[in-house]
Amino acid sequence: MTTAVIIRDLEFEDSSIREQAAELLFRGFAHMSPDSWPTMRDALDEVEDSFGPGRISVVAVDGPRVLGWAAAIRQYGGNTWELHPVVVHQDNRKTGVGTAIITEIESRVIEHGGLTLWVGTDDESGLTSLYGQELYPDPLKKLSQIKNVKNHPYEFYERLGFALCGIIPDANGLGKPDIFLAKRVRRIR
Ligand SMILES: CC(C)(COP(=O)(O)OP(=O)(O)OC[C@H]1O[C@@H](n2cnc3c(N)ncnc32)[C@H](O)[C@@H]1OP(=O)(O)O)[C@@H](O)C(=O)NCCC(=O)NCCS
Repeated sequence: MTTAVIIRDLEFEDSSIREQAAELLFRGFAHMSPDSWPTMRDALDEVEDSFGPGRISVVAVDGPRVLGWAAAIRQYGGNTWELHPVVVHQDNRKTGVGTAIITEIESRVIEHGGLTLWVGTDDESGLTSLYGQELYPDPLKKLSQIKNVKNHPYEFYERLGFALCGIIPDANGLGKPDIFLAKRVRRIR
């Protein structure tokens, strides 16, 4: 990591950090997934939701500047947590910030007694070989043949030990799937 990054809780009282996290989300998905957070208000609402019960919300900061933000949602009685959302500032990608944030979330999930962390990662703009394809009648076979065409983040998760585990064809419209990955975060003896 090239910067003096600190990973810490995103605290509700910290309005500047909150707004920067929302801006990362709004800008970070504008091209890739424009309907996810179409306005800053939507992004701010997502940040505010991340303070609710059964949530983990973690930022990477360098002094007053937010480099990345990720949150997780408790599911299945706490055995499983969903990563949602995950974003790193454009200028700080591929410097280990995303890895540091997810690693912290994994530790928090373990502290909460969780076993599995999963993420759904859409392809709405032709970033993988699955975009625009007919995935039926065997979506899992198509998933096993996935290729990364333009830096789709599924490979980021694979590098962190997540495994491709499912897909919803047409989740975001015809030919726009949602791709699922999961990781067992707690060591099993
Ligand atoms: C995906 C994202 C969070 C990754 O964060 P990051 O800080 O760039 O990731 P890191 O620097 O920790 O990368 C860890 C490894 O994954 C690789 N990687 C990162 N993004 C990748 C991508 N899009 N495609 C393929 N590999 C990727 C890195 O090269 C690095 O590989 P290495 O271990 O061989 O060095 C960031 O690119 C981002 O915010 N993207 C836009 C929003 C987004 O896609 N969020 C996830 C939606 S589910």
